Amino acid sequence: MFGSQSFVPGGTTTVTKVLGILGSPALKGNTADLLEAVLAGARSKGAQTERLNLAEMEFSPCLECAGCGPDDMCIMADDDMREIYSRIRAVDAIALASPIFFMGVTAQTKAMIDRCQNYWVERFVHKKRAYVGRRRPKGLFVSCAGSQRPIVFEPALHIVKSFFSAIDYEYVGEVLLANTDDPALAPRKNVALEKARIEGAKLCE
Ligand SMILES: Cc1cc2nc3c(=O)[nH]c(=O)nc-3n(C[C@H](O)[C@H](O)[C@H](O)COP(=O)(O)O)c2cc1C
Repeated sequence: MFGSQSFVPGGTTTVTKVLGILGSPALKGNTADLLEAVLAGARSKGAQTERLNLAEMEFSPCLECAGCGPDDMCIMADDDMREIYSRIRAVDAIALASPIFFMGVTAQTKAMIDRCQNYWVERFVHKKRAYVGRRRPKGLFVSCAGSQRPIVFEPALHIVKSFFSAIDYEYVGEVLLANTDDPALAPRKNVALEKARIEGAKLCE
């Protein structure tokens, strides 16, 4: 968890804060392992890290209530989305991790993303940029797929890049592991874990 030393008076940060959001219902699956490697890589560079498991949080999907206002808070935010909202503008990077379910991100991940429509309205309707004069936070995508179809990650990549754009983050890349159905997964997973640690460290540059 972020410690109190992660913030200094005046709202400036001295320590890189990296938030991992796990959108997989499997809290100890391949996707979770890759996300943990990203966070370990970030910690190796001195970052403070935190992981939120969407499957353990309770929040409604977007109800298209047309209530998105000029600030960055959803008017129906009286649920666990508060935990996400409170961190989006406070961290330096988010690693969003979701396996591929039916060619897209999981329902948990998509529900969280849709509940960020308020940020899309802030940026593209009210033309407010969140990070004027300072570096935008970084967004990294982590994903696994059972199959090895060449296009298996493409729809999810479009969704995730759209998400990071809406919250005004800089999309910096992805760590992908296909063909997790393969019984001989271990060597390829080790390569992906190493890439995840490297990408996690790069979040702190
Ligand atoms: C509901 C569901 C839908 C899935 N849909 C796809 C799919 O469209 N394409 C694919 O390659 N794998 C699909 N998979 C397989 C998962 O992407 C794969 O098992 C992945 O490794 C799961 O993540 P985990 O290892 O972190 O648990 C699906 C799995 C489930 C449970």
